[in-house]
Amino acid sequence: MRLRYSRAELLAEHEHARPHEAAGYRLHGGLDQHGTYVSPRSKFRTGAIEAWSKEHVARGHELIDASRRLLEHDSFPNAGQHVWLMKNGIGNVLWDDLTITGVIEARGQALTNFVAPDFQELVVEDISDWALGHLNGGLLQAHGMDEGGDPDSGLGGHDTMWFAARDLVFGADAYPLPVVPDSIGRPDLGRLMPELPLPVEQCLLLLMNVLMIEVRAEAFFATVDDVLSHRGIAPKGDDAAAQAAEMVGRIRQDEALHVGYLPVVISELRSATLRVAGGVKRGAEIIDPIWRGMVEWHAVTTREHSVAQKRAVLVPLLAARGLDLSMFDQLSERRAA
Ligand SMILES: [Fe+2]
Ligand SMILES: [Fe+2]
Repeated sequence: MRLRYSRAELLAEHEHARPHEAAGYRLHGGLDQHGTYVSPRSKFRTGAIEAWSKEHVARGHELIDASRRLLEHDSFPNAGQHVWLMKNGIGNVLWDDLTITGVIEARGQALTNFVAPDFQELVVEDISDWALGHLNGGLLQAHGMDEGGDPDSGLGGHDTMWFAARDLVFGADAYPLPVVPDSIGRPDLGRLMPELPLPVEQCLLLLMNVLMIEVRAEAFFATVDDVLSHRGIAPKGDDAAAQAAEMVGRIRQDEALHVGYLPVVISELRSATLRVAGGVKRGAEIIDPIWRGMVEWHAVTTREHSVAQKRAVLVPLLAARGLDLSMFDQLSERRAA
């Protein structure tokens, strides 16, 4: 099992039979000879992430859970609520969610230029064969380009893919562009891991924030998938909705790489022996309480805030159409853990 990869390999593309194009956009990845979508920069990256993950477990360590089980709730609005809104002619709620998701994806492009601190200075074990040892060797760069596109290629990334899905469902410029929140990451709470150098703490918090944003995105994928499977609700018709669903499936396929390597990196750090002031410490001792706090913030705190904000927008929309908010609320359902 190969565990060491060059930057060129982690960025390498498959040969594509056809370019990836939809709704007038030129997009990353490509199609193989059977018309199946192939994720960008995945020629070696997919196998590399699998190898690091298996190796970590083979060394006797566990992988942190990064599934939707971490979230206690569905997206808001949930699929049933979106469908009800669309049947009542209120499509702009889904339009806004799709647009905002695209704009936030574009911000992920910043990862392309992010330089992680030298983790080998912190970790006692040799990390050359770990995912952690490849962060600056192509992993973060590939991730950033997946989210916001590679400016050199002129091909759109996830940002553009969400806009393509949105345009397929509603038509381009169907509604005005919504206001996009400044940040969806947890705000700076001051030093949380004072035993670690500040750049290491900042990088760890960034990786955890990004991973939880990916987990929340996974919940949104499921919601959109569910909404688009309902026939007769998309303004541009069922065929266009099916194409949009396929586009969302392609984004989701790409995201599997992100929710693949980030948990491995955090798990490797949990398992590592870290050099701290006055000695060494097991990574889990430092990371676990911080990870729990990060999960809680994304799963509960920020959700409550976002639900309150979105409800404030919904109330006048429903009132203007003489619709009862309680009918919308009846469609909400706490997701089984
Ligand atoms: Fe993405
Ligand atoms: Fe992602």
